Amino acid sequence: VARPPLPEPPVTPLAWRGGWRDGALELLDQTLLPAEERTLVRRASADLVGDVQRLAVRGAPLLGLAGAYGLVLAWREALDAGGGADRVHARFDASASALARARPTAINLSRAVEASLRAVRGLGGDARGEALLACARELELREREACAAIARHGAEALTGRTQVLTHCNAGALVTPGLGTALAPLYLLHHRGTPVHVWVDETRPLLQGLRLTAYELGRAGVPWTVISDGAAPGLMRAGAIEAAIVGADRICRNGDVVNKVGTYAVALACHAHGLPFFVAAPRSTFDAATATGADVEIEERRGDVARYLLTGSTPGDLRTREPAFDVTPARLVTAFLTEQGRLDPAALPASIFATDAFA
Ligand code: MRU
Repeated sequence: VARPPLPEPPVTPLAWRGGWRDGALELLDQTLLPAEERTLVRRASADLVGDVQRLAVRGAPLLGLAGAYGLVLAWREALDAGGGADRVHARFDASASALARARPTAINLSRAVEASLRAVRGLGGDARGEALLACARELELREREACAAIARHGAEALTGRTQVLTHCNAGALVTPGLGTALAPLYLLHHRGTPVHVWVDETRPLLQGLRLTAYELGRAGVPWTVISDGAAPGLMRAGAIEAAIVGADRICRNGDVVNKVGTYAVALACHAHGLPFFVAAPRSTFDAATATGADVEIEERRGDVARYLLTGSTPGDLRTREPAFDVTPARLVTAFLTEQGRLDPAALPASIFATDAFA
């Protein structure tokens, strides 16, 4: 029996059920994984904003989808609250901007909200609700297709390299498909090509330890978690042959903004002559951001204490917790996108989406 060309995603992090009038957004609460698989059912946009901020729903492509589906909730609320057209629109606009600004670094979120708003300009009532839901569904489809293409291009780029390092979580949990950085690894495993994933635990929120290991495990892909600082030593020992990570934003000059610690992985790959791949869909490339220096880097507060020091926190603990860092384009071997393998020094204009749906 022939195998399907692509495996099924090992997990579904988000799903809209129903129509725009009666529907709800279901989310897998990623803060509880891997201990508990709890589905949240959201009908209020403010609840969704809270979910985004506490990272129950997270990762660049999924944040875009949360924003797009969140607008459907926001429009319904605005209509249900009543009042004249001005009041309805003012209420909707306030909810839309709360969604767009819920987290600052991944471009996908604000871009998806803005693109949906552009697409429904001039529409009201039921027509606007239906159009917002259609936008979100279209974005979901495009992101799923992008994952499939990234899987194929990434599998080719990794040919001959079995021992692959990843940082943070850029898999099925952050997309409606196979993921970005993890997609090629799922495909290689599905084809029967030996692959083993070294998973940086990813301080301080442990997305690698909690989430990447969880979803690789569900798919049966062999993995080993290491502390973030262990990777360079393993590279020197010859245990790691390549690194592949996702991205929250890719700037016009090719700088990559991704989970804090990514820059260190890129430097270590460079020092050891290993390829450093960045896998991302077009919705993460942002021509409006010239370089990494122009990106607002989210600062977390108290995550170190919450995740790493529970029970033994010094009373006067002071921390600085940037959630992301910038990897300069010159350290990137290649971008793996739905348009194929791209050279950071020669990014085509076509990779910089002007619209989330274009
Ligand atoms: O803070 P998070 O968990 O939303 O961070 C996002 C990430 O997991 C990574 O930075 C990832 O590589 C980009 S999302 C494909």
